[in-house]
Amino acid sequence: MSLSVVLTPAEILSLAAANLSETTAVVFDVLRATSTMTMALHHGAAAIYPAKDIAEAHALKEKHPDALLGGERHGEIISGFDLGNSPLEYNNVTGREIISTTTNGTIALRAVTHAGMVIAGSLLNISAMASWLAAHQPAKLLMVCAGTGNDFAIEDALGAGALLHDLTSRNELKLQPSDAAKMLLTLWNTHRNDVPSVLANSRNGSRLCERGRTAEVECCAQLSVFQTVGILSGDALRPHLVP
Ligand code: MLT
Repeated sequence: MSLSVVLTPAEILSLAAANLSETTAVVFDVLRATSTMTMALHHGAAAIYPAKDIAEAHALKEKHPDALLGGERHGEIISGFDLGNSPLEYNNVTGREIISTTTNGTIALRAVTHAGMVIAGSLLNISAMASWLAAHQPAKLLMVCAGTGNDFAIEDALGAGALLHDLTSRNELKLQPSDAAKMLLTLWNTHRNDVPSVLANSRNGSRLCERGRTAEVECCAQLSVFQTVGILSGDALRPHLVP
C-alpha cells in the first residue's frame, strides 16, 4: 500500500485533475468538520451530504426536504441552518440525513469525490479506520489534511500521523510511505501523549477555546473511541460499523 499525504488547501485544489481511481482518500478536518461527521454517524445519522457552499446546501435541501442543515462559516452556525459544526450538537440525530457545508472540511471531501473510496477521518475512530483499511488493503492510500483557511493545520497532520502509526503496527501490511508520510509518523510519535494540548494550541483550536468551545476541542482530541467509519457512497457519507 503506498501512503501519501496532501498537507495544504492549495494542494487539495490540484487533486481535482488527479487520477484517483485506485486511491482510497481519508480526509482529516480534525477541528471540526470530519470529527463532527464521525460523531453524527456514530450517533445514528443515516447520511451526510457534504456541500461545497451554502447555495449548494440549500439546493440539496430541496432534494432532501427532511434533512437537517448543518455547518459553519467563521466557526459559527449559518443563518437559517438547524445545526452548527460542533460535535456536541450531533448526539441526537438517529435516522436523520444531514447536509453539511464548512469552510475547509467539506471542500476537501468534495475535492476527492472521484477517488475509488473516500473516508471522513478523525482521531475518534483511528483504530476502526485502520482495521477497515487493513481488511480492504487499497493499493494507494492518500491522506488529505483539510487545513484551516488557506493554511496547513497541525491537528489534521496529527490525525493522519495517528492513522499511519496504527497501520505501521499491523505487521501483515506492506506499506510504502512517502517522505511526507514519514514526517507525520514522527509528528505523531512526538505528540502522541499530548494530543489535547496540541489541538488546544493549534490556530483553529485556540480560536475555538477563546470562544468558549474548549469542550468541543477536547471532544475532537479523543483517540479511537468509536468503531464507526464514514464512507462516501454516491454523494453522501454513510456509517460503517467496523467490528
Ligand atoms: C472547517 O471546515 O473549516 C472547520 O471544520 C472549521 C470549524 O468549524 O472549526
